[in-house]
Amino acid sequence: MIAVSQGGISFRVLNEVSMQRRNGSALLEIIDFEAIRNILYGADNELLCLNLFTLIGKSFIVDLCESNDKGEIILTATKGLEGIVATTSSISSIIDGVLTYRGINIDDLAENATFEEVVYLLWYGKLPNRSELSGLIQELNSNAAVPAEVLNQIKLYPKDVNTMAALRTAVSSLALYDPEAGDMTPESNLRKAIKLQAQLPTIVAAFDRIRKGLEPIAPKADAGSISENFLYMLTGKNPEKIAIEALDKALVLHADHELNASTFAARVTVATLSDIYSGVTSAIGALKGPLHGGANEAVMAMLEEIGTAANVKSYITEKLENKQKIMGFGHRVYKNGDPRAKHLQKMSQELGKLTGNMNWYDMSIQIEELVTGQKGLKPNVDFYSASVYTSLEIPRDLFTPIFAISRTSGWTAHILEQYENNRLIRPRAEYTGPSHQAYVPIEKR
Ligand SMILES: CC(C)(COP(=O)(O)OP(=O)(O)OC[C@H]1O[C@@H](n2cnc3c(N)ncnc32)[C@H](O)[C@@H]1OP(=O)(O)O)[C@@H](O)C(=O)NCCC(=O)NCCS
Repeated sequence: MIAVSQGGISFRVLNEVSMQRRNGSALLEIIDFEAIRNILYGADNELLCLNLFTLIGKSFIVDLCESNDKGEIILTATKGLEGIVATTSSISSIIDGVLTYRGINIDDLAENATFEEVVYLLWYGKLPNRSELSGLIQELNSNAAVPAEVLNQIKLYPKDVNTMAALRTAVSSLALYDPEAGDMTPESNLRKAIKLQAQLPTIVAAFDRIRKGLEPIAPKADAGSISENFLYMLTGKNPEKIAIEALDKALVLHADHELNASTFAARVTVATLSDIYSGVTSAIGALKGPLHGGANEAVMAMLEEIGTAANVKSYITEKLENKQKIMGFGHRVYKNGDPRAKHLQKMSQELGKLTGNMNWYDMSIQIEELVTGQKGLKPNVDFYSASVYTSLEIPRDLFTPIFAISRTSGWTAHILEQYENNRLIRPRAEYTGPSHQAYVPIEKR
């Protein structure tokens, strides 16, 4: 007998239930909870499904499971956990291809909200009024300085180290200098979320300057936004309004994204009741990979390799013929296009016009036409971010750290939510190794 819990509902599997005849997947329309119960248990109160059921709009995918000849359920794995609903969350949603933060459409937020409004929304569940917003901006400014010990450590990092590896190490070391790192009260965890959000931009800018042989620049105490402070700390110059606004919009678009890989990594880490610094460090490690946040850098590397619009067709055609992936395309959840991409495309075009260099945008448009035309794959959030950041003269290997700066808001919101209603996250594995092996003494091997 196996007890299973999905989406907060627990099921009991009776071993006399025969599952063989029902193996496979089914897509079922949900009318009400009673209907779900009937689908899951069947008219005779037999359990039909346990392996997974996934909410897609108003439908559930039900993966029916196998049982062996004793009627025991066989655990079967779903590669990449595709379609598995692993938690409940009230932070962001992707329903019918529409992304919302706390129920507000990303299109509305991208057009109207600042990143700090979004941070507030993700943490507190509502948009801030003017005084709440200025209070948050003040708190972010007053927490932006990084402990001198961390800056001194960054000075010892190899100059050519991967920027995400540097960020991961520096963020992990922040915990060593925070006396309340191990304090698990909600108030302390919120304070640490503010510190992390405030200090990541300082770390990224400091690392960039230190590796160039320059002194890090202290954050402004009266910055109007994280975008302004970050661009200032990178260059030492007051950034132009257009640059602040463009970066700010990119931060809004990257802030949260339901149970993406790095957010899941953060939740798994803190679900052991480990601390928030460990959660964000895990998340940075997960974001680093080219299948996740690292894709934006890979897109720019590709654009640079292609060089000009005239080379696009042959380059992309060859890659697709060789079954190679084109970075910045495709998505596990969005099959009809990533709703964030259009905003970045527009920004990429506007910034291209403003800087008088349309090359990256023109190439990107051609690539999109080819990849969508030939493979049906649409650009994701990373595709046009690459040309946007390049137009802002941001070095290529800071793209993913900027993604991390933005996503810290989502990671910390999810970590706080996980602590509020925690249960250890511990799935099972389908064993595919040999069975009934005898132990062979070392002298006989
Ligand atoms: C995002 C991504 C990891 C989703 O992965 P997934 O859901 O596991 O999908 P798969 O990698 O299994 O891809 C399914 C099919 O589409 C193809 N495909 C997916 N993304 C592709 C891409 N960017 N270029 C070319 N083909 C792609 C795969 O080759 C595979 O084809 P096949 O069935 O013929 O083998 C994947 O689309 C990808 O690697 N994209 C490029 C990296 C990227 O931009 N990541 C940022 C995500 S926001």
